[in-house]
Amino acid sequence: MEDVIDVSGLTKSFGSFRALDGFSLSVERGTIHGFLGPNGAGKTTTLKIIEGLMLPDAGRVSLFGHDSTGPGGGTSMRSRTGYMPQAPAFPSHMSALELMQFYAGFFTPRGEDRRAAIGWALDVAGIAERKNDRIGHYSGGMVQRLGLAQALLFRPELVILDEPSAGLDPAGMAEFRETIRRLRDKEGITVLLSSHLLHEVEQVSDRVTVIDRGKLVAAGTMAQIGSKLGTGGAVRVEVNGPLERVLDAVKKLTFVKSVEADGNKITIQLGTTEDVRSEVSRAIVAAGGVIESMKSGPTLEDLYMSLMLNKGKEGEGAS
Ligand SMILES: Nc1ncnc2c1ncn2[C@@H]1O[C@H](COP(=O)(O)OP(=O)(O)OP(=O)(O)O)[C@@H](O)[C@H]1O
Ligand SMILES: [Mg+2]
Repeated sequence: MEDVIDVSGLTKSFGSFRALDGFSLSVERGTIHGFLGPNGAGKTTTLKIIEGLMLPDAGRVSLFGHDSTGPGGGTSMRSRTGYMPQAPAFPSHMSALELMQFYAGFFTPRGEDRRAAIGWALDVAGIAERKNDRIGHYSGGMVQRLGLAQALLFRPELVILDEPSAGLDPAGMAEFRETIRRLRDKEGITVLLSSHLLHEVEQVSDRVTVIDRGKLVAAGTMAQIGSKLGTGGAVRVEVNGPLERVLDAVKKLTFVKSVEADGNKITIQLGTTEDVRSEVSRAIVAAGGVIESMKSGPTLEDLYMSLMLNKGKEGEGAS
């Protein structure tokens, strides 16, 4: 698959503070790519450099296979991208439709009828029904949707969303995730989605890149990241019944890496970070076992925390 974004060796300092330190990221066409990191990790800085809104001190940005480092370096490539900034602000006296007409007049959508482009963007972003209301009357969720509509106006092949669900409640976040999936599945748009919340990103992303203190921490699918760290997850079960048969049945499960038994306490190491407790219990019960207790962990949340804590320790050691 073609990489629509390929960024390598990005370094950026603000005064003596190094916000990015040799950071690299690549995003495959047709995927939703999660860009995860705690506050201040360097996500927004990276996205601004990709969008040409900021120059790196060193490193290279390639968009759609073309070198696009720096402002002007990739203007034609950037016209194929849409960008939703973190916490977008819009004039409160305008309606969504007026705002979109303003943008569309300002930068004419490529080879397309303006009205159709605006209608499509408002519709895909899920804001069409409220397009005539003043933006000042919108809820936080509606403003985020307008931010997405604005990013979609020029029918981009790639959208870059910087913390799009900041301030949304859980239901709003779930709806927004659905919208993002639709972008990928129905519209064929590649999505780069930044967030500091793991659970927001893991549910929707095909791949994830983790950044901390300007450095690459991990990249890949959640399962790959988990197994690389040796924390793909484990299930601990206490079983009564025919132990040998139970062990054989568990070992046959495709996602099981290894099985250890200590009396009737079985520890199952998993090659996945997904929750597979129901599959494990079905296999045990089918083999005639009776489950006395079952625990699983670490969760992806634990994994993310341990990635961050390990980085913290390295940092301390270095200083
Ligand atoms: N224009 C600037 N001048 C000085 N320091 C900056 C500037 N922009 C960013 N920084 C610093 O660089 C670091 C990375 O900032 P960045 O905004 O990229 O982080 P982030 O990962 O987007 O964080 P958040 O999750 O809080 O949005 C932070 O320490 C920030 O204070
Ligand atoms: Mg940010």
